[in-house]
Amino acid sequence: MQLLITGGAGFIGSNFVRYVYKNHPNVQITVLDKLTYAGNRANVEDILGDRVKLVVGDICDAPLVDRLMSHMDACVHYAAESHNDNSLIDPSPFLHSNVVGTYTLLESARKYDVRFHHVSTDEVYGDLPLRENLPGHGEGKGEKFTTESRYNPSSPYSSTKAASDMLVHGWTRSFKLRATISNCSNNYGPYQHIEKFIPRQITNILSGIRPKLYGTGKNVRDWIHTEDHSRAVWTILTQGTIGETYLIGANGEKDNKTVLETILRLMGRPSDDYELVKDRPGHDLRYAIDASKLETELGWKPEYTDFETGLKHTIEWYTSHQDWWKGEKTAVEDKYAQQGQ
Ligand code: NAD
Ligand code: DAU
Repeated sequence: MQLLITGGAGFIGSNFVRYVYKNHPNVQITVLDKLTYAGNRANVEDILGDRVKLVVGDICDAPLVDRLMSHMDACVHYAAESHNDNSLIDPSPFLHSNVVGTYTLLESARKYDVRFHHVSTDEVYGDLPLRENLPGHGEGKGEKFTTESRYNPSSPYSSTKAASDMLVHGWTRSFKLRATISNCSNNYGPYQHIEKFIPRQITNILSGIRPKLYGTGKNVRDWIHTEDHSRAVWTILTQGTIGETYLIGANGEKDNKTVLETILRLMGRPSDDYELVKDRPGHDLRYAIDASKLETELGWKPEYTDFETGLKHTIEWYTSHQDWWKGEKTAVEDKYAQQGQ
């Protein structure tokens, strides 16, 4: 199989590249990545060679995309601007990469009849009330996102991802593009950019900086280890039904304060050694995924069911890969400091 992976030098994309490289030796991988601030050649450098090629370029570059797509069997599309906080400062790159970029890939996949998988987020559904505010503490209908949930994005990031999902729907129905979509919850694991919550706090502690919690820390995210996400995407690519959407999640709901306190404990710090900082405008309260469709129809199940063990491995990875993140730490923290975060 000739497989094009867009955004394969970013966090989740590079973990997927590594997953396919390790588990599916018959696949030839071409990574197309612009290497924005979030993309890093080092994430895939050690496996570049006969089976993995890296093309540095923009998914909005139609001639380049056509040249690559013309000899592909399938494309898995990860490339995007991915950070909510950045989208609140300047939404324009989000429109470019997430909307125009997806459109450019869809047109090319249509032209060359390439099987297309679009990687998206649970944030397209907006947020859910906190469980404590639901009748019976949320043990009923509507407690989690399903494929029937209404699109209701909150931020420039999530609205551009919602737009990209809609483009995929349009191309699938009208042009019979062989496409599937997945909407996944919050990933954690190695190679995640240090602007994101978990790696930011781990690298803060390793740098002698106090961790920063937005608002009161009551917001809930549904954590999944990125390797479980990779296996889910591969399962959908190879066994999923064309035209369908699958939700990916691992029953990992935790509020941010609990996650931070766990990181502090695992790193030998007092559990209150952090600062409360300015909240994110429009901050989504809670995400939670019902992944039963993926589990019952395609037989996928998460393997990282113990969040604390996954977190421990992640802490070990950032501790032993300081060269990977140290050069960027000051700039990332300076940018947050300007926003009061
Ligand atoms: P990331 O920011 O770590 O990586 C994005 C990659 O895309 C980078 O390598 C970047 O260089 C590349 N890129 C950006 N714009 C590009 C362009 N115009 N042309 C070519 N390459 C470009 O993001 P991530 O966290 O790995 O997320 C990957 C995908 O998964 C995104 O589509 C995101 O919406 C989705 N997703 C992320 C999460 C999460 O928890 N991080 C959860 C669900 C879905
Ligand atoms: O749900 C999937 C989404 O998860 C993906 O689509 C996005 O690409 C990905 O970035 C992630 O979005 P979040 O906004 O949930 O992730 P982030 O790591 O930015 O923040 C996680 C939570 O932690 C959120 O409630 C905000 C909070 N936070 C974040 C940072 C950076 C803090 O409390 N302190 C921080 O320093």
